Amino acid sequence: MKRTLTPEILDSLPPDDPAARHSRRDLRVFNAVLGNTRWFGRRLPSLVRPGERVLELGAGDGELGTGLLRAGLSVAGLDRAPRPAAWPAGARWHQADALTFDGWGGYEVVIGNLIFHHFDDATLRTLGTRMAMHARVIVAGELVRQRRFQRLFAALCVLIRANAVSRHDGRVSIAAGFQGDELPVLLGLDPAVWRWTVASRGRGSYRLVAERRA
Ligand SMILES: C[S@@+](CC[C@H](N)C(=O)[O-])C[C@H]1O[C@@H](n2cnc3c(N)ncnc32)[C@H](O)[C@@H]1O
Repeated sequence: MKRTLTPEILDSLPPDDPAARHSRRDLRVFNAVLGNTRWFGRRLPSLVRPGERVLELGAGDGELGTGLLRAGLSVAGLDRAPRPAAWPAGARWHQADALTFDGWGGYEVVIGNLIFHHFDDATLRTLGTRMAMHARVIVAGELVRQRRFQRLFAALCVLIRANAVSRHDGRVSIAAGFQGDELPVLLGLDPAVWRWTVASRGRGSYRLVAERRA
């Protein structure tokens, strides 16, 4: 299955549009099924060194970041969308486009859940170059690009009464997902500088942990 990019409807809706709100609720269910939020919660504490700051790209409604903040990590969110009401007052939120953001130097750890598949190959390379200039650790939760996961996803949508936005966006997100080492390679991570692990799980999650070599 060739990697293809199709614009996601949620990205063009105002954040308070009822269809956007319904779709964000669906996204919370999809994340629970994929297990990515729990995985970040288990994996990150051992990757982040004392004093290091974490930047979450495409932080959305802040569910992942608020959980990590509660666990004691120093997390800032970044999204084109405004700061979510639930984002803790003491934590930073950058309302910004990841592609024009210029504050990378403030963060040693960059994470993102379901954000990297939004970008085409050339844009991933640009983003990877910017992240790799300052970051020591990059962690991504993504989707495996396989038709069987599109079929599983369609069945889940019926089960949870997902709206049309979620049904569309989930299908095109899987088509823009990753296989094997694609994500670190597309980000342009140099194996002489970075070591990484990539894992795919049975429900369709794709997980990358990349660390700068000592
Ligand atoms: C599929 S949602 C995932 C949200 C959240 N990470 C989650 O797992 O629930 C993708 C998020 O990325 C944000 N986004 C997409 N393109 C972006 C960009 N270029 N810069 C910043 N945020 C972006 C969207 O606003 C949206 O909140």
